[in-house]
Amino acid sequence: MNKPQTNMFAQETLVDPFDHYRAIFDAGIDIEHIPEMGAYVVYSYDLCSEATGKPEIFSNDFTALMGADDEEIQEILKDGWDNPPTLLTADHPVHTRNRKLVNLAFSAPRVNAIEADMRAKSIELISAMASKGECEFVDEFAIPLPVTMIAQQIGLDNDIAQVKAWSDAAVDRFSQLVDRERQLECARAFVEYQKYMKSKIDERRANGGDDLLNDLVEARVEGETPLTDEEIMSIMQQFMVAGNETTTSTIAGAMLQLIRNPDQMAKAKAAAGGRDPKLIGNMVEETLRYETPTAGMWRIVKEDTRLGEQDLPAGSVVQLRYAAANRDPRKFENPDEFQVDRKNARAHLAFGKGPHMCVGNMLSRKEMLVAFDELLERLDDFALADESGIEILPNVLLRGVTKLPLTFKQKA
Ligand code: HEM
Repeated sequence: MNKPQTNMFAQETLVDPFDHYRAIFDAGIDIEHIPEMGAYVVYSYDLCSEATGKPEIFSNDFTALMGADDEEIQEILKDGWDNPPTLLTADHPVHTRNRKLVNLAFSAPRVNAIEADMRAKSIELISAMASKGECEFVDEFAIPLPVTMIAQQIGLDNDIAQVKAWSDAAVDRFSQLVDRERQLECARAFVEYQKYMKSKIDERRANGGDDLLNDLVEARVEGETPLTDEEIMSIMQQFMVAGNETTTSTIAGAMLQLIRNPDQMAKAKAAAGGRDPKLIGNMVEETLRYETPTAGMWRIVKEDTRLGEQDLPAGSVVQLRYAAANRDPRKFENPDEFQVDRKNARAHLAFGKGPHMCVGNMLSRKEMLVAFDELLERLDDFALADESGIEILPNVLLRGVTKLPLTFKQKA
């Protein structure tokens, strides 16, 4: 079969990549070399999984891709603290130590304690829009729910807009698609964030507290040195970014797919309000598979290797295209259908796999389940207010719905 004519990283493909993925699989391509990006894209489910399981060969230390050698940016960053590689951008043994300490903070009791706040915030947001009969769902629900939850947990609950601004700046820095002025602005925002977070860490060290930030400050594992302030600042920034944009995209994506698939909406509505939390949970998994907000993640090849049929020389930049893997017909039957009761939906790679698998997965799964449990129980007759008002903004790594104007009715 012929290679598809579409280019993975063209703007129109990033917005709507699904024909491209289908053509790639039809052509029997598992890995594509894209010379103009200097990168290999891994599409196949099995090969993405295999690479995530070999962190010693497929490294997460991709900080060099993020302007680390740019002098003007370095000058701005000098006004803050060191930003050591942690979690997402660290390899063993730093990653292993970070993860042990951070896992303590993301305990089941912590997530369960946050559940009551998630429900209260969901109900508050629904009540605020219920009688209007219309809303811009992303701004009025899908952003404020996760941003509020994470802000509360990192000591920033008094300034939700600030969390969103710092998080957007970090995403832009990471995406590599912004102009120079924005790159400098993002570096300044990072220093401002560091100064604020340092003051919060000092406060927790002095007075304690009841949130994720305090759990991290206090995290101790035998045989490991505790996290430094610089590491906590870096990890908290990852929570801010990873916990916001991705959860927002999944909540908005779920609403869009339920509206586009009325038979699936009917099943989800029947299960909401605590009637069948398993089904709502599975609907969340299917949305993660279908929408995959973390469409791709970078890896750097540490030594000459072979993945599937492809030789990869040391130093190669590889993108694991989780969003494509989640549409791989060899893994998911009829992959382009949205089925809330799909049997193997949970096998998706939307949270990655292996040692770097999303540390916030329990938290965001719970948040999305609670959100739809309440939304579908309290409001009804969801419809798109204006098809042309839907906006999807992608970058090289992330993809998600950013505007979703809706109409609905308040349930009697
Ligand atoms: C729908 C929501 C979310 C999605 C789709 C998502 C997706 C992902 C993915 C794909 C990875 C693995 C990256 C890789 O392969 O290198 C990851 C890692 C990570 N996520 Fe999430 N995430 C979500 C929510 C959250 C939340 C709520 C938090 C924190 C509050 C969070 C924090 C992190 C962190 C810190 C890592 C790095 C873990 C490591 O490298 O050990 N994420 N996430």
